[in-house]
Amino acid sequence: MAPRGWGCWRWAARPRARLLPGAAFPLGFRQLLSTLELAPHICVVGSGPAGFYTAQHLLKHHPRAQVDIYEKQLVPFGLVRFGVAPDHPEVKSYGAEDHNILGIPGEELPGVISARDFVGWYNGLPENRKLAPNLNCDTALILGQGNVALDVARILLTPTELLEKTDITAEALKVLKQSQVKRVWIVGRRGPLQVAFTIKELREMINLPGSQPLLDPADFSSLEESIKEASRPRKRLLELLVRTARKPPEPKADSKVTTPRAWGLRFLRSPQEMLPSPNGSRVVGIRLAVMRLEGSDENAQAVPTGEMEDVPCGLVLSSVGYKSRSIDPTVPFDPKLGVIPNSEGRVLGAPGLYCSGWVKRGPTGVIATTMNDSFLTGQALLQDLEAGVLPLGPKLGYSVIEPLLKNRGVQPVSFKDWEKLDAEEVAQGQAVGKPREKLVDPQQMLQILGPK
Ligand SMILES: Cc1cc2nc3c(=O)[nH]c(=O)nc-3n(C[C@H](O)[C@H](O)[C@H](O)COP(=O)(O)OP(=O)(O)OC[C@H]3O[C@@H](n4cnc5c(N)ncnc54)[C@H](O)[C@@H]3O)c2cc1C
Ligand SMILES: *[C@@H]1O[C@H](CO)[C@@H](O)[C@H](O)[C@H]1NC(C)=O
Ligand SMILES: *[C@@H]1O[C@H](CO)[C@@H](O)[C@H](O)[C@H]1NC(C)=O
Repeated sequence: MAPRGWGCWRWAARPRARLLPGAAFPLGFRQLLSTLELAPHICVVGSGPAGFYTAQHLLKHHPRAQVDIYEKQLVPFGLVRFGVAPDHPEVKSYGAEDHNILGIPGEELPGVISARDFVGWYNGLPENRKLAPNLNCDTALILGQGNVALDVARILLTPTELLEKTDITAEALKVLKQSQVKRVWIVGRRGPLQVAFTIKELREMINLPGSQPLLDPADFSSLEESIKEASRPRKRLLELLVRTARKPPEPKADSKVTTPRAWGLRFLRSPQEMLPSPNGSRVVGIRLAVMRLEGSDENAQAVPTGEMEDVPCGLVLSSVGYKSRSIDPTVPFDPKLGVIPNSEGRVLGAPGLYCSGWVKRGPTGVIATTMNDSFLTGQALLQDLEAGVLPLGPKLGYSVIEPLLKNRGVQPVSFKDWEKLDAEEVAQGQAVGKPREKLVDPQQMLQILGPK
């Protein structure tokens, strides 16, 4: 097995008091103890937006706080590096892990993949780098109508000349250049009033060069009353959908693409079964149950009408939500919701333990939401510190974690090491006129770091 990497970055508002390594504490320990009590030593697990923003809040508002951030990947930044689409670098300034399983027949067929793995693949997540999605089909179908679904659709349809300038991995670009995909269906169980994507992402799809939206005006015909009553952001989004649906298709003048591409939204359809090719070698379609809504607002429930519809497609991407995994059996976890049970970030039943980000509130919201929510967790921790309810005593921090990791065969990657990887990525990018070339092979990364 390849050695695992752990990142550890340490920040302190002030130079930190150092404990000497070794079993015996040096003389003067009592004195050191009293200093350490005043300098809370905080461990943050995970270097996504939640980890960084929580650390930022702590360092900013506690003059003596010391923060160690631990990351299980060889490189930091969580979904900012491995989730946010490469053509969206402006939001990159953002431990959800599992994708929800559909639990329907044929899910294991080649050609059926999770949007999460696909996103990991085009972003160079080491565990997805061998995904090799087969884009040798003309129709792809995405299950789910959130921003991740639109990200995936956009990456599939964007002319590769435009992707070339981003930090998408070279491997993904190569595969996308040979893609035959011309049509992408984005399928939701419920209706237009319940879509989970936001207007900015929708507008980008509508304006995508060389691609035509395929929206059925009938899907929007009975919504006028509901639109009037919707909240302002939802109203704007729905109005844009209706306007687009009513517009007759027009060839885009700026398009140099000879075979026009298209994308469309399909509503009130719930996946029942993946349809295999005659010899069972791959997916060639999907059976969808036609649904109707009970209720009309954002909480409306979809119920089956009994009708079915088969849609031919050579690629199915399920994008029905990300879900965090339990970090450790000793940390409380709600497997159904995929969150750590907490009150304002304080983990229930585990004093001294806090959570923030997607593992705190579930996989919703953008980086700014995670930022706000992480500041609140930081605030709760500092309040508890001030109130004296946190377990007292000096924390040894990295000095005891390091030997533990080494014992488990983990080669730690330090902040200095990361700077080395970062410099290499930037240098490789410069050589080909891109902001950076992402390193994707863990072995190659370890080689760059050199022997320890
Ligand atoms: C495909 C996709 C596209 C997105 N696009 C956008 C966008 O365009 N704009 C936007 O604002 N938001 C976007 N988001 C949302 C944004 O990514 C999240 O809001 C944000 O990343 C959540 O932060 P987090 O720190 O909770 O989780 P994460 O970013 O997942 O960070 C968790 C970190 O913890 C690490 N970790 C997990 N378990 C352990 C462990 N046991 N030990 C050590 N480390 C561990 C993980 O490796 C990871 O680095 C997107 C999300 C996805 C999935
Ligand atoms: C299944 O059929 C396809 C052509 O339809 C062929 O390319 C493929 O090799 C076949 N696979 C198996 C396992 O027989
Ligand atoms: C974050 O908090 C600020 C200040 O309270 C607020 O203005 C902003 O709308 C919040 N952003 C999100 C995405 O919640």
